[in-house]
Amino acid sequence: MKKSAFIILLSVSSIFHSFAEEGMLIPSLISAFENDMKAMGMKLSAADIYSVNNSSLKDAILHFGGGCTAELVSSQGLLLTNHHCGYSQIQSHSSLENDYLKYGFWAKNKSEELKNPGLTASRVVRIEDVTSMVLTGTKGLSDSDKLLKMQSNISQLVEDAMKGNGYSAKIKPFNYGNDFYMIVKETFSDVRLVGTPPNSIGKFGGDTDNWIWPRHTGDFSVFRVYTNEKNEPSDISDSNIPYSPLHFLPVSMKKRTPGEFTMIYGFPGTTEQHLSSENLRYIMDQERPARIKMRDKSLSVINAGMRSSDLTRIQYSSKQARIANGWKKWIGQIGGLKTVDAIQIKLDREAKYIEMVNSKKEWKDKYGNAIGDMNALVKKYKHADFGYSMAIEYLYVGPELFKQARNLNKFLSSYDALKANGELDAEIKKQINGAKGFFKNYDENVDKKVFELLTAEYVTQVGEGPLPDRLKSTSAKILADKIYAKSILTNEERFIKFMNKLNSNSLKKLKKKDLGFMLFLEADENFMSNIIPDIRIYKSEMDGLLKVYVAGKTEMFPNEKQWPDANSTMRITYGKLEGSAPHDGAKYTEHTTVDGIITKNNSGNLDYELLPRMKELVKKKDYGPYAQDGELWVCFTGSNHTTGGNSGSPVIDAEGNLMGINFDRSWESTMSDFMFDSSRCRNIAVDIKYVLWVMDRYSNAKHLVDEMTLVKD
Ligand code: ARG
Ligand code: ASP
Repeated sequence: MKKSAFIILLSVSSIFHSFAEEGMLIPSLISAFENDMKAMGMKLSAADIYSVNNSSLKDAILHFGGGCTAELVSSQGLLLTNHHCGYSQIQSHSSLENDYLKYGFWAKNKSEELKNPGLTASRVVRIEDVTSMVLTGTKGLSDSDKLLKMQSNISQLVEDAMKGNGYSAKIKPFNYGNDFYMIVKETFSDVRLVGTPPNSIGKFGGDTDNWIWPRHTGDFSVFRVYTNEKNEPSDISDSNIPYSPLHFLPVSMKKRTPGEFTMIYGFPGTTEQHLSSENLRYIMDQERPARIKMRDKSLSVINAGMRSSDLTRIQYSSKQARIANGWKKWIGQIGGLKTVDAIQIKLDREAKYIEMVNSKKEWKDKYGNAIGDMNALVKKYKHADFGYSMAIEYLYVGPELFKQARNLNKFLSSYDALKANGELDAEIKKQINGAKGFFKNYDENVDKKVFELLTAEYVTQVGEGPLPDRLKSTSAKILADKIYAKSILTNEERFIKFMNKLNSNSLKKLKKKDLGFMLFLEADENFMSNIIPDIRIYKSEMDGLLKVYVAGKTEMFPNEKQWPDANSTMRITYGKLEGSAPHDGAKYTEHTTVDGIITKNNSGNLDYELLPRMKELVKKKDYGPYAQDGELWVCFTGSNHTTGGNSGSPVIDAEGNLMGINFDRSWESTMSDFMFDSSRCRNIAVDIKYVLWVMDRYSNAKHLVDEMTLVKD
């Protein structure tokens, strides 16, 4: 082969390669990708994946609790999701006598399955492109009239879609308002807990391994959907029966082969693939580092507290996990974006876009200013955006004093109405109960130190930007000493005493004398008046420019894979079962085995603690039919483009069988929220064979395995 031809071939295939796996596709449009998916090994048709008239894979995928994904795996409504997705339900059923967190829980039969008020799981009935209907009658209208007309079209369409069927419908903008889709859903509200492994499996590796490959977490839990006798959604009731789904996923007991086709179906939350170079630069150089720094400070205090006291460890475990999850993800994101030189990639893409724009007068008129305007807008508003991010970190993620103040303020805003209606006493009782729950997981000393460190950092970070006067005039140390000595917000006894004696006098005193509450009101006022209005303008102008930019991309680059940013709607992404080599000289294999569980446990790190049974079973190599070549796989990685919300999503093989449950990404991959790199970005799933092994061999719950349809080689 001639050298030049070879180079062309190579570059065409590498462009193709880099687009094959990127993207979160709308299921109703999947037929456009059928050929590409088949070329990668898929044996299904587009109609097997998504169909409105016949049952399809779609019907087995549920939006779980609004934030995660889950999949149906039996004809009796058995539902799998992540352990971390079912965690609050598992926690709420646990007590010292029944410590399901520590020892796991398995219902022996359906009557032992546990009800979960408030938990829902929704099936997507259909996804419909309603763009033209949303825009009907808007031609020639002024911007504000156009918006009104669109809103009324949307209400009408939604109303029509919900008539007489018990479904809910929502219309969401895609591609920043270039397109509108209606999502019709059927929501089940009797979803019971069937089983969970102990934390030492479901949370194995804890924060140490979070966002990390190699991984050994059995991050799964088991639920069941219940309906009325007519197989329709119903409130929780003893007379409900197991749901009989339109489709459930068969489970793959087949040999796994690196390179084989994988597909993920789920509800990804947010991606920001179209940020301009200047925006990404601001986020990488300024916004994220400052947010990380704020969390460095709070985590330093919380971690030390948790190390020194068991009570603090329990009190702060879930709060710490929440703060650390984002903190660790961002560090990984910046690292990844820097390694691939993401800014340069953006600049190159922008140059290509502008070159294209300049090739045609019509394009120049329509799209010529989009990139320049976006970059200019970032420069104009980045101080406002920075102030916003810092305020979020300070007021919403920082010292919990503000959380308590926000609750109290909300209650006080309805004080007069409650009093007039004679509902005050009952509400005060509720507030006291709420406060007891709050203070149960609260340590004054920890919060005081968090307050002092974050206040100082907040003031430094915001600098000349909008701050409440009090923070400019008084040092963090003085404020901390005064507030935590006297405020009712930081001490249970003082709070309850205040509540029990609540009257208009004490209310006045609170607003004039309680420094903690006063600071909250001032900071909140600063947030609402000096920060939020700018942010509203910024976001809406930026969305307007993104709309133009994306329209241009779609029109001018028809051969590139175009996909709308994630927006918590159902999506499909596909790739391969494969490892990665994100660092020079190091290579990750695509799977881990139970041997790694034992090795990690040997390190003595408490995040790798095990119950004795795991060691016994692994020592005996009691893997049964779940092994592959003498090994029991625990987790595997794939080149599927996922993000937060894809937790619990099924990893589906070429024939539509369940291979594993997605739960995380590797650290090197977290950049995929901004930019997908097919050589680095990997999702992490727990192998379904390990899940079945844990049910069958570890937990004596083989009846659940028997309920599923197993597909063998
Ligand atoms: N990083 C994963 C996600 O964003 C898993 C989080 C739960 N696990 C944990 N150790 N905090 O949701
Ligand atoms: N762990 C995430 C989730 O809970 C998934 C991810 O960000 O990759 O949705």
